Amino acid sequence: MIEFENVSKFFQGEAAVSDLSLNIKEGQFTVLIGTSGSGKSTTLKMINRLVEHDTGRIRFAGEEIRNFDAKTLRRRMGYAIQSIGLFPHWNVAQNIATVPQLLKWPKARINARIDELLDLLGLEAAQFRDRYPHQLSGGQQQRVGVARALAADPEVLLMDEPFGALDPVTRGALQQEIIRIHQLLGRTIVLVTHDIDEALTLADRIVLMDNGQVIQQGTPLELLTRPATDFARDFFGRSELGVRLLSLRHVADRVRTHERIEGEPISESVTLREALSLFVHRQCRQLPVVNQHGEPCGVLHFSDLIEGENAPAT
Ligand SMILES: Nc1ncnc2c1ncn2[C@@H]1O[C@H](COP(=O)(O)OP(=O)(O)O)[C@@H](O)[C@H]1O
Ligand SMILES: [Mg+2]
Repeated sequence: MIEFENVSKFFQGEAAVSDLSLNIKEGQFTVLIGTSGSGKSTTLKMINRLVEHDTGRIRFAGEEIRNFDAKTLRRRMGYAIQSIGLFPHWNVAQNIATVPQLLKWPKARINARIDELLDLLGLEAAQFRDRYPHQLSGGQQQRVGVARALAADPEVLLMDEPFGALDPVTRGALQQEIIRIHQLLGRTIVLVTHDIDEALTLADRIVLMDNGQVIQQGTPLELLTRPATDFARDFFGRSELGVRLLSLRHVADRVRTHERIEGEPISESVTLREALSLFVHRQCRQLPVVNQHGEPCGVLHFSDLIEGENAPAT
């Protein structure tokens, strides 16, 4: 869907991105991660031509992006970032309608789309449509920002640290929201972050960057269990490795389905990291497990958390 072939970008003679090759597949959730100044934002902006690359080739849907009209290209790609935020003198509805207006959608269709998106992002349409950005909390503004990026049903969603300035609870809620939207709409998403746990939570594929170059790319599990260099190993944190691996697995992966016990249950969709926390908090060795319908479906044993965690997912 999006291919980088030996792409470089220079600012005042300094390479911000050098000889970068990437292949982002349709429907994939790709996360670009790396230290500050490693070239993540520049890479993202080259995709929608907010920044033009100097050498190499970038293709979108098989076609060189230089062959597209830049405006047309940008309308096919939603873009959400932390800092720009919303247009302050436009209300929520007007902000979300930005691209559909440019595309000259009929009014009724735009209105229906605004309500649909507010609903998708968990904001009551009647309550929020007419509010101005300053009348929203940070988390609500971010939600509207994501709604605006999704408005014209873009083929690609580009997000640059979209949840950066949020408190951990709101951030977690929005991460779950974007996972749900990704599963629901199946869109190609490229997200930039410097937060390792965010990358592990969201990504199908992680691209680790340093100094304008790709150090390693692969699934979250591959990067944790088979770091290609010392930098990759250090970046993902040697001391946190164990709990981070648990965050990639779910209770459903370890539940003993033939057993039943009494007690306050845990959902099978919860990560093993959260389960570990619950074991410690409750000071117990077994937890009853329920499925998505709340029906008992087995028992999670504390001892099973440490089984096979270094093996790649099958
Ligand atoms: N518009 C610009 N003008 C000059 N230098 C830039 C510009 N944009 C980015 N850079 C430089 O390019 C490098 C990569 O920046 P960036 O892509 O923003 O990194 P990241 O998003 O990973 O923090 C940095 O050294 C940065 O200072
Ligand atoms: Mg950046």
